[in-house]
Amino acid sequence: MSTEDAEPFSLAKVAAEALRRRCGGDTFDVAVVLGSGWAAAADGLGPPEIEIPVVELPGFVASTVPGHRSVLRTVRVGDRRVLVLLGRAHLYEGHTAARVVHAVRSAVLAGASTVLLTNAAGALEARLRPGWPVLVLDQLNLTGHSPLTGPSPPAWVPERFADMTDLYAERLRAVVRSLYPDIPAGVYAGVAGPQFETPAEVRALAQAGAHLVGMSTVLEAVAARHLGAEVLGISLVTNLAAGVGSGPLDHREVLDAGTSAAAPLGRLLLRVVAAL
Ligand code: HPA
Repeated sequence: MSTEDAEPFSLAKVAAEALRRRCGGDTFDVAVVLGSGWAAAADGLGPPEIEIPVVELPGFVASTVPGHRSVLRTVRVGDRRVLVLLGRAHLYEGHTAARVVHAVRSAVLAGASTVLLTNAAGALEARLRPGWPVLVLDQLNLTGHSPLTGPSPPAWVPERFADMTDLYAERLRAVVRSLYPDIPAGVYAGVAGPQFETPAEVRALAQAGAHLVGMSTVLEAVAARHLGAEVLGISLVTNLAAGVGSGPLDHREVLDAGTSAAAPLGRLLLRVVAAL
């Protein structure tokens, strides 16, 4: 059977074992996924202990997206062992939902009971400015996919009808707010992409209760929560969404916003991870 066809939870378990072996047999406390615009902030967490190309792990795929490095590293932050994923897989690259969440699922099965998901997002209202980090309060999964679709999970995994009431853990949000009392917060709408939205879509998302829009995160959050992890989400506003700002959008703008904000984002990551 190819890894493409393997039952996704068992494949993630095999990957989790490989992850532990490759990273020194230890477990992890926190997993951090660095999305578009965030890779430059990775060094803010401190020097890597171990760094490996993700493709060396079962079921992991290299990213085809500029700005995603497709390596993972381990870092010590205080007494925490942190697994940092520099890059992620997206639906718009042609991956299944199972493949998109594989890295996060593997990290949780390797012991990471806290998952920090970062992303680049368009702001649906002009009060959120490019370059700002925004705490994710909740999400609208508008991708039309779920990582829990498929045959019933194996018996060692929780049932598929996962509770999403506290998807982005109130406890973790309070930790961030204790460090950054003025950090804005909003609901993240996850869409499939890869095209940016039309202004009509942006208006519809805002009316539906979202404040941010992006093309990642929502499936990983569901998968991590399903396995019992606590999830924290932080978006970097890279642009005003179509029709909110003026002018056309492009991916370069998304990456540039991250590069400009790398130093403060790196400090934010370090402070937040140390406090989780
Ligand atoms: N829309 C969707 N995804 C995004 C955007 C956007 O405006 N900016 C960064 N990721």
